[in-house]
Amino acid sequence: MTVLEVIKNHHAVRQFSDRPVPDEVMLAILDAGRRSQSSKNTQPWQFIVVTDRALLESMSKMGNFAGHLAGAAFAVLLVGLQDNTWNSFDLGQAASYLQLAADEVGVGSCIAAIYYPEQVKALLNIPEEHSAFCAISFGYAAPEHKPAQMGGRKPVQEVAYWNKWEGKRS
Ligand SMILES: Cc1cc2nc3c(=O)[nH]c(=O)nc-3n(C[C@H](O)[C@H](O)[C@H](O)COP(=O)(O)O)c2cc1C
Repeated sequence: MTVLEVIKNHHAVRQFSDRPVPDEVMLAILDAGRRSQSSKNTQPWQFIVVTDRALLESMSKMGNFAGHLAGAAFAVLLVGLQDNTWNSFDLGQAASYLQLAADEVGVGSCIAAIYYPEQVKALLNIPEEHSAFCAISFGYAAPEHKPAQMGGRKPVQEVAYWNKWEGKRS
């Protein structure tokens, strides 16, 4: 698939099969994540790769919509720095790289917002000065997975403006 095809096909996968993701596939996904661009090339991320089922189940209770973590083949907790203005932006870009690379190798994914970062930090021994507000589930999609019916995106005409705020093209 081309990058454009990967982007067009991307959608959240929240139901996963039991099929394990081979180490080399996991490493290829992580390698894509660490290649993401970042402000001043600070690369302000650490990726905590969680494969332990009990840890995944605990993490799935640390966000109100994080249940899919429990069934993931593995999850990546994005760990950043608390005091960096561009931290969230940089971590968001790394998340996209991780997810789009996963798409290319046939691995589905979905973000889980962590509502209780102090709990996840305690669970995974992450030092106080770090942020931990986003985890991503990864795994091969379960046979019953269907892309969300509510999915879809606004048309480009609705979100793109040419030159000035009122600059629309039909
Ligand atoms: C910042 C962010 C936070 C998200 N948090 C959650 C979450 O906590 N739980 C969840 O199931 N999906 C979460 N998602 C996934 C979105 O719900 C999903 O990307 C969106 O609904 C589009 O889905 P689609 O690509 O299948 O159309 C999050 C996505 C982003 C970008």
